[in-house]
Amino acid sequence: MQKKVTKAVFPIAGMGTRFLPATKATPKEILTLVDRPLIQYAVDEARAAGITEFIFVTSRGKGALEDYFDRAPELEATLKAKGKTDLLELLQATNLDSGAIASVRQNEALGLGHAVWCARHLIGDEPFAVLLPDDVIAAEKPCLQQMIEAHAETGGNMVAAMEVPAEKTASYGVLDVPSAIGPVLPVHGMVEKPAPGTAPSNLAVIGRYILTPQVLRNLESHQTGAGGEIQLTDAIEKEIAAAGNVYGYRFQGRRYDCGSKAGYLQATVAFGLARDDLRDDLEAFLYDMLAMRQAAE
Ligand code: G1P
Repeated sequence: MQKKVTKAVFPIAGMGTRFLPATKATPKEILTLVDRPLIQYAVDEARAAGITEFIFVTSRGKGALEDYFDRAPELEATLKAKGKTDLLELLQATNLDSGAIASVRQNEALGLGHAVWCARHLIGDEPFAVLLPDDVIAAEKPCLQQMIEAHAETGGNMVAAMEVPAEKTASYGVLDVPSAIGPVLPVHGMVEKPAPGTAPSNLAVIGRYILTPQVLRNLESHQTGAGGEIQLTDAIEKEIAAAGNVYGYRFQGRRYDCGSKAGYLQATVAFGLARDDLRDDLEAFLYDMLAMRQAAE
């Protein structure tokens, strides 16, 4: 029997420079997709997968993220007094229980592996999940839940995987898999941001992980890798040789790279079109815009 995965780490210390000036005074993770901040998509996905302890790895200026998941007594009282029960429910759904969120500081931007290592004392000696909120995944069954179900069979370490065009592999961790049949793929190697033309496959790692505590121990050495950063990919890679227990999981769903402006805009449109209250107007507007652009060409 696998130990149940109940803890998740959210590395949210990044400065969000790709979204400046918006991120000058607002954490990137508070930027909104339709009407929910990015971080809420990741936290909701984790909750749906049975996570009960949420570990935020933060940096200076990220206080808004903790406040967001706290109760808002004045707002709640106002909505209650006005009989706005729908809004009240919506608001209360964002509250996490007392003690459910813990945050630790990463006081130097040394890489994703270092960020996860910062959470070591809160994780202890059990398997844990990592969710990168920049990767927003629309799926019928939330991606982490799909992975937790698959992980119950395999144990070990599991990373979400997705095919990307060959010319994009240099932006990702890339998997070396002997065969790409089925959703669960034993991994023979992992490379962080391979130089163009050297990627072992076009299966890229997407920001959802289930990891063993041994990966934290592998991060202890603070060894740097691609881009001079302490890479999570390298710490997982070590487990392939040592224990042979790393799996790629090809999830069902569509991933949006909300760490880039183009991906963020695409997610905004897709999530808008998925909403009953917005679909018709948005769709009509998009047709209109396209027709105008075509007419202008
Ligand atoms: C990180 C990981 C990379 C992974 C990617 C997924 O890279 O290091 O292995 O493929 O997330 O989004 P980053 O996008 O932070 O450079």
